[in-house]
Amino acid sequence: MSQKDSAVRAGEVVARGRRLGAKAPGNPFAKIRFNAGGATLLTITPAVSLAVRQRRAVGERRRLRGHGGGPTGVGGVPDRLQGGVGGVDRQALTAEADAVGVGLGQAEIEVLAALAAAVAEAPFNVGGLHGPEDIRRKHLVDSLGCLRTLSPSDGEWVVDLGSGAGFPGLPLAVARPKVRFTLVEATGKKAAFLRGVVGELGLSRVDVVQARAEELGRDPAWRERVDGVVARAVAPLSTLVEWALPLCRVGGRLVALKGPAADAEVAAAGRALAELRGRVTRADRFRLPGGPEERVVLAVLKTGATPVRYPRRAGVASRRPL
Ligand SMILES: C[S@@+](CC[C@H](N)C(=O)[O-])C[C@H]1O[C@@H](n2cnc3c(N)ncnc32)[C@H](O)[C@@H]1O
Repeated sequence: MSQKDSAVRAGEVVARGRRLGAKAPGNPFAKIRFNAGGATLLTITPAVSLAVRQRRAVGERRRLRGHGGGPTGVGGVPDRLQGGVGGVDRQALTAEADAVGVGLGQAEIEVLAALAAAVAEAPFNVGGLHGPEDIRRKHLVDSLGCLRTLSPSDGEWVVDLGSGAGFPGLPLAVARPKVRFTLVEATGKKAAFLRGVVGELGLSRVDVVQARAEELGRDPAWRERVDGVVARAVAPLSTLVEWALPLCRVGGRLVALKGPAADAEVAAAGRALAELRGRVTRADRFRLPGGPEERVVLAVLKTGATPVRYPRRAGVASRRPL
């Protein structure tokens, strides 16, 4: 029996699912995808049997819900993503997350270490950062650094806009498993990578959508429906508010991860903020633990309904910011 045949049979017997398609292009993980029960998207890799993966995913979800942690390096995370030699320094990650106000248990640390291993293998450039220390500090800890500002409640819907390889959305989703996260990414290759990582890590409340913000901002299923939007390194604030605030409900917020130029970006975004009904309510500053890098996390409150003319069509907000 070929590997493909055995995977199909496993899916039919165990998941009673419908085969959706084989080999998502650019996705290093997915081989065959199933729609199980009309809702759960399941990915199967030849390396791991479906039954074992389901059992591990259940164990992982239970640990993330606080049912107690397993021994380091096991659980829902596939063996090949567990870091190992040259992997993420768990002690440093725990301490640095703590320093930015996020207390993490052993299970969450293991999932983040697995995420770091996946990012190191990403089939595209992830901000030029590939070493374990850079990935730990400049992706994982940097992402977690916006959690105090975002302060999501259980059950809220948060969109990570222009998620790339999953930052800041994936570390936030690991730290806050009761919040619903949607990773929005315009590029197909990156969205496929994100789907693979989300499946491998068993993050059941995270989904991935390949789309441009401007399209979603005009779609009634999205417009003014989201509680919070987070974004890092996507666009200057003047453009970002036109992409993000149409998605936010009135009273929702955009949280933008910025560097030392944040004040200048706020000053340049005055008209865009007024037009899109946004008000900057916080600028939380901190140094990235273990280095000199300055970070500023901006919170923009949505104060009123978005005028119908926004967002303008794809590409206009970046070419001609307000
Ligand atoms: C520089 S990357 C940053 C990725 C990630 N946020 C991070 O900090 O590592 C910017 C990402 O935003 C995506 N992007 C740019 N414009 C977008 C838009 N209008 N809608 C959705 N995604 C967009 C790009 O495809 C790219 O992956």
